[in-house]
Amino acid sequence: MHTEHILLRIRGTPAECSRWQDALRAAMPHVVWHAEDPVDPAITQQIQVAVVANPAPGSLQGFSNLKLVQSLWAGVDGLLADTSIPEHLVIARMVDPAMSAAMAQTALWATLSLHRCFFQYAQQQQHTVWKALPQKKASDIHVAILGAGAMGSAAAASISAQGYPVSTWRTTDAQHLHALLGKSQVVINLLPLTTQTRNLLNHEFFAAMPKGAGIVNLARGGHLVEKDLINALASGQVGHAVLDVFHAEPLAADHVFWRHPNITVLPHVAAITDPVSASQIVARQLKAWAAGQAIDYRVDRTRGY
Ligand code: GLV
Repeated sequence: MHTEHILLRIRGTPAECSRWQDALRAAMPHVVWHAEDPVDPAITQQIQVAVVANPAPGSLQGFSNLKLVQSLWAGVDGLLADTSIPEHLVIARMVDPAMSAAMAQTALWATLSLHRCFFQYAQQQQHTVWKALPQKKASDIHVAILGAGAMGSAAAASISAQGYPVSTWRTTDAQHLHALLGKSQVVINLLPLTTQTRNLLNHEFFAAMPKGAGIVNLARGGHLVEKDLINALASGQVGHAVLDVFHAEPLAADHVFWRHPNITVLPHVAAITDPVSASQIVARQLKAWAAGQAIDYRVDRTRGY
């Protein structure tokens, strides 16, 4: 096969970067990956494809022949917000069944933990409190999943397999959101971050949920109005929040979320892209691209994901 030069821009630890390089090399042995910065100017103009994971804004600048950006992240809000990336570039999201399965596990764990009061028992342990809390049936706990893509659908399937009534919601059903929230004891956010969904998890949203319901944000920090959550927890309107994503990551050491008794913080790990399985998907995408065929999971800039 011919030699191809592909730009690789991964924001991560050196260990993460080398895991990606190993997996991508194994999946596409004919490719020369350019993770170095800067790239040799003699090569820069040959580069038509970039494979990226949450790259720093501006890091695709200077590659004037770039045509395709394949993301290793599912969410492409960061790429779309990077004004240095020309609008004519094709951007593709990562959709990987291994990632959807990981997300479904996190969503199920959060649902079980909220329903069966396991977060409260963890708190009780801190205070050596031996106290049984009421045990409800799964069939009495309605779960709303915001987002009906690959991850939302996988989460819905695994949660409903445990006996919970589950509804998935998409932004095109905007007028039905409040009715859905009104009957949902657990709400799980898996939406892409777009202009339409930014700040969706706000005072009005929490007020529409039954008192004491649980909120689980596994999507983006920009979906949540932080001070509205703090107020909703203080009033008991929201019982507990599970948060994997934040406005600023890593979450600052002095952020109130860390020590809040009714917030469970995760360090953006609800579904980490698996380098080995995702590299197979990248190989399939790049092969289709090189053959002039349509690629999957192409981002629609007007839709925002
Ligand atoms: C992680 O948040 C991703 O978008 O893959």
